[in-house]
Amino acid sequence: MELIDQIDRSNIPEHIAIIMDGNGRWAKKQGKPRVFGHKNGVKAVREVTEGCAELGINYLTLYAFSTENWNRPKIEVTALMTLLVETIKSEVKTLNKNNIRLETIGNTEALPEKSKKALRNAIAETKDNTGLCLILALNYSAKWDIMQAVKSIAQKVEDQSLHADSITESDFESALSTKNIPDPELLIRTSGESRISNFLLWEIAYAELFFTSVLWPDFTKEHLAKAILDFQNRERRFGKTSEQVQ
Ligand code: FPP
Repeated sequence: MELIDQIDRSNIPEHIAIIMDGNGRWAKKQGKPRVFGHKNGVKAVREVTEGCAELGINYLTLYAFSTENWNRPKIEVTALMTLLVETIKSEVKTLNKNNIRLETIGNTEALPEKSKKALRNAIAETKDNTGLCLILALNYSAKWDIMQAVKSIAQKVEDQSLHADSITESDFESALSTKNIPDPELLIRTSGESRISNFLLWEIAYAELFFTSVLWPDFTKEHLAKAILDFQNRERRFGKTSEQVQ
């Protein structure tokens, strides 16, 4: 029996977040330029998005471009932005066919105009879809998000529309770019690295972490199934004792 068929459909994570890592190493292994790895990374994005939609997962967040990625060689940054625009434009039809809604988190205002336009159009064209919500983290870092949330809350305190004493977790969450998105229950990172790399720091407080040595372009629906099965075999205690949650 395939792994995907072993999944308990009544205990599916509502939100999966993925740090897609290893495109560069995948390309290098074949003596190809890094961009070749990113192009093949898009195939894995398609495969995993389809897998999540089929399994009835509600939210999938992909770390597509971090704030720190601007520090890569200019040629790679340009290639990644071009790939993003091309992929988004060519996939809108498929997103609609599969009832998938596109959203973004991160400082998208600072992206190149072409990228912003492609994103705006794709978001508008898929906004009424009710199935999987595919969230691309673009020009995103958790510290950036936390800082902009702190500033917007500080502004409210300065305007006297909010009292410092009465700030709640929910006020803070409403100021993050992940507002209205439930916290991820499962975070996957590929390529053998065991780091969070400034991704969703607030939101993963109780997420189960799954690290795999598979490089992102090689990641398939079966690997996704393996991560979900692992998640389903863990006991999620949220600070309680094992007896309390059984
Ligand atoms: C990490 O591999 C990957 C990225 C920084 C970019 C991920 C982008 C894509 C998969 C393509 C575009 C995505 C969409 C959603 C259209 P790495 O380059 O850090 O690999 P390395 O660690 O082996 O060098």
